[in-house]
Amino acid sequence: MEVILQPNQEAAAALVARIVAHDVRANPHLVLGLATGKTMERVYRHLVCMHQQEHLDFSLCTTFNLDEYVGLFPSDPNSYRHYMNHHLFRHVNIDPRNTHLPNGMAADLDAECRSYEALIHRFGGIDLQLLGIGKAGHIGFNEPLSALRSRTRVKALTPTTLKQNAPFFGGEEHVPRRAITMGVGTIIETRRCLLLVTGESKAEVIARAVEGPITSMVSASALQLHPRCTVIVDEDAAANLKEKEYYRWIFENEPEWQDYQ
Ligand code: GLP
Repeated sequence: MEVILQPNQEAAAALVARIVAHDVRANPHLVLGLATGKTMERVYRHLVCMHQQEHLDFSLCTTFNLDEYVGLFPSDPNSYRHYMNHHLFRHVNIDPRNTHLPNGMAADLDAECRSYEALIHRFGGIDLQLLGIGKAGHIGFNEPLSALRSRTRVKALTPTTLKQNAPFFGGEEHVPRRAITMGVGTIIETRRCLLLVTGESKAEVIARAVEGPITSMVSASALQLHPRCTVIVDEDAAANLKEKEYYRWIFENEPEWQDYQ
């Protein structure tokens, strides 16, 4: 795992977008794993800009989103399909047939989860996975106690997550209680992942995930098992990290990061 510090939310999101753009240019057939949430909105804004101004080409890319609520139609303004269309897909030249999210309306949810895994496999696995972190320490909707080897499945949301997502639904009682999510095991098998974390409200949980022990109580801590995981944090989110000087040194000195200064 490596941690990269950026001065603020904007710089952190811009860096994530530049890494995505670099990988898309290097491999136009990139299989991209996508995430939702407020934090990601900035990243998608940057990618849309790069498409419009620098001709970043998504026409051959395939995408797989981490998760989707159970019981929402794709047209529902709170569905993650709607979020992705709104923030990214409709503004870039990606073929909608190449964009995949779990179907939270499937009659047989377990079969839907199995076929989502099979589809990822058929495309050769995910090359680059974007991740945010929930206040409960989750990645995707892998709530506390998610098995570290879990696969795509239905998960019940914790009270913390229901509360975090309540404003979008006009109250906690309207938030769906369950979601389909890639498992921790599914996420760990991606070739590279980028975890973007900004804001002081995430400072405590990201310190536990990055510098604490691996525990299913904080599913993001399982990323310590990932062979190539980069955590990009802004100064607010980095407040509780102990090894900040080391992380700064890496970004400023390691050859891999020179093009991103
Ligand atoms: C939801 C999503 C997560 C996301 C999290 C953080 O729970 N399922 O994938 O990481 O929200 O959201 P935000 O960026 O709004 O804090």
